Amino acid sequence: MTSFVIAIDGPAAAGKGTLARRLARHYGLAFLDTGKLYRAVGLKLLLNNLLASDTLAAERAARSLRPEDLDMPGLRDEAVAEAASVVAAQPAVRAALLDFQKEFARKPPGGAKGAVLDGRDIGTVICPDAQAKLFVHASVEVRAQRRARELQDSGREAIYARVLQDMKDRDERDRSRGIAALKPAPDAFDLDTSDLDADEVFKRALTFIDQRNRAEA
Ligand code: DC
Repeated sequence: MTSFVIAIDGPAAAGKGTLARRLARHYGLAFLDTGKLYRAVGLKLLLNNLLASDTLAAERAARSLRPEDLDMPGLRDEAVAEAASVVAAQPAVRAALLDFQKEFARKPPGGAKGAVLDGRDIGTVICPDAQAKLFVHASVEVRAQRRARELQDSGREAIYARVLQDMKDRDERDRSRGIAALKPAPDAFDLDTSDLDADEVFKRALTFIDQRNRAEA
């Protein structure tokens, strides 16, 4: 039986994670936040006082990654996000993380009948045959506001102008890198969340996925 896969791509703070989690719960699917893989590689380097630009060390960290590393504390830190975006542009790191992601989609853990994966290259590289692909995005200003609020709510300092600039820099790196650049798959459902709340995003995604399911049945 083929696994039912929902691929969600888009830039940071566009609402992918919230949507992916809700869809996974709704359909009873396993969920993988693939950004965590790149964050875990970045964090390992930082913990060992190594630079994210050290490609050999980054490849080694990626190859030695274990599933429990995805639960390391500190993965959401801004310094880790920065390191993640640097290692994510390195072909050897992406190659080292490819099989784990493909395998998760093909044979989801816990006997789930399928999986939701979110990231930047899920619909284009990791799961080009996914049954449903969504490209979730929002203006960079809206995303920076959301991220700044998130940081403030968790008790961390956040200056909007700084968060906005960091987000623009990381967007640029994700979009312009030579490998697996952030872009919508040709058959992805385009979901601009700039003016939508999480419930509306979920509703639109469900409508699209259920239509796809009916078309395939
Ligand atoms: O979604 P996130 O902020 O946790 O992602 C962290 C970094 O990893 C970000 O710079 C984009 C990169 N990434 C990627 O290149 N490919 C993915 N499938 C997921 C994340």
